[in-house]
Amino acid sequence: MVRPSRSTRSATDTVATDETLRLVRLPLADTLRQLHDSDSTVALQRGIEALRRQIDDPCSALRAASAVDDVTTFSRRYLFDALDQIAAAFTLERARYYAARLLRATLEVRTGAINDIDLNRWKEYDDILTDSLWLFDRRDSSGVHRAGYWGNFVPQIPHQLMRRYTRRGDLVIDPFAGAGTTLIEGRRLGRHTIGVELRTDVVEQARATLAAEPDRYGALCALEVGDSAVFDWHAALARHGRRSAQLAILHPPYFDIIRFSDDPRDLANAPSVEVFLARLGDTVARAADVLDNGRYLALVIGDKYAHGDWIPLGFLAMNEVLQRGFGLKSIIVKNFDETTGKRSQKELWRYRALVGGFYVFKHEYIFVFRKK
Ligand SMILES: C[S@@+](CC[C@H](N)C(=O)[O-])C[C@H]1O[C@@H](n2cnc3c(N)ncnc32)[C@H](O)[C@@H]1O
Repeated sequence: MVRPSRSTRSATDTVATDETLRLVRLPLADTLRQLHDSDSTVALQRGIEALRRQIDDPCSALRAASAVDDVTTFSRRYLFDALDQIAAAFTLERARYYAARLLRATLEVRTGAINDIDLNRWKEYDDILTDSLWLFDRRDSSGVHRAGYWGNFVPQIPHQLMRRYTRRGDLVIDPFAGAGTTLIEGRRLGRHTIGVELRTDVVEQARATLAAEPDRYGALCALEVGDSAVFDWHAALARHGRRSAQLAILHPPYFDIIRFSDDPRDLANAPSVEVFLARLGDTVARAADVLDNGRYLALVIGDKYAHGDWIPLGFLAMNEVLQRGFGLKSIIVKNFDETTGKRSQKELWRYRALVGGFYVFKHEYIFVFRKK
């Protein structure tokens, strides 16, 4: 199965659309009510034809919104699909059911507790992933996003996670902030973010990058230098007038596969897998301390080889989180971008795989947990 390769960019949490129609809400609702009350399928189909013409007529009362009008926006494709569905219904009763549903989508917003997705319009969110296999053919490089920091994740990861698991105004924490990808996405989506990163130079660079990202919603975007295994999140949140977080995104080193620094506190420099896991566990516990119950933690991690054996770092790390008061919601497998270095060694790795009886890494995991 191949996911659509389109970028998952969306400046707002409403809809990623083909064409966005701005329609005056009440006359549209009146027309839908009339459709619903039609006494025959023929009358209903005529009504739908008339409505389609009105929507397409830039001078119609539906389109000519004044400054005081209450306007609703629809993806053109979604709205016309919904009208087609009403028109194609086999029975009048079914057509009324679909018309009532479209009327609700016009009049009411229905969101759950942990995101801003309008469930009355769930079909419009076709850029939000719900499958457990994420295949991105390229990273989002819009705005200030750059691939330059070795080991940074594709912005689509925090983007998807924030849209599924946070509302605008929620706080997202990132204990391994690196180049600040999570913070950039948070700023774009109107989510507050606090990140921690061990390397001072990386923090300084990330701050400079963030300063160039437009701040449309006035979201908090704070980066601190620190060791996330011993970091005091309560104090950090208090410094920014917050008491709790609503999402934690953790993208630790995959043990020693990338050397980020000489600092012994760097998880990449842990003396063994066991110590790496213990420190990761400490980091999870500290982040969990400020995470609201029922909210989500995502762990992005890949496996590694050592001495000819596949080390299932992802699953070992997953177990560390499960031991700290979380339930597992999903294991997502994401395709793994070849780094520039690896690309030049591609042939060599293929040869080694054939000789050594193993497979070349092409995936990493996004484990999604919910705090109990
Ligand atoms: C995989 S990278 C994260 C990249 C980030 N998601 C991004 O998009 O830029 C891991 C980061 O964790 C940092 N790190 C390692 N050990 C740490 C620790 N104990 N506390 C805080 N940061 C740490 C590394 O310096 C590195 O920047």
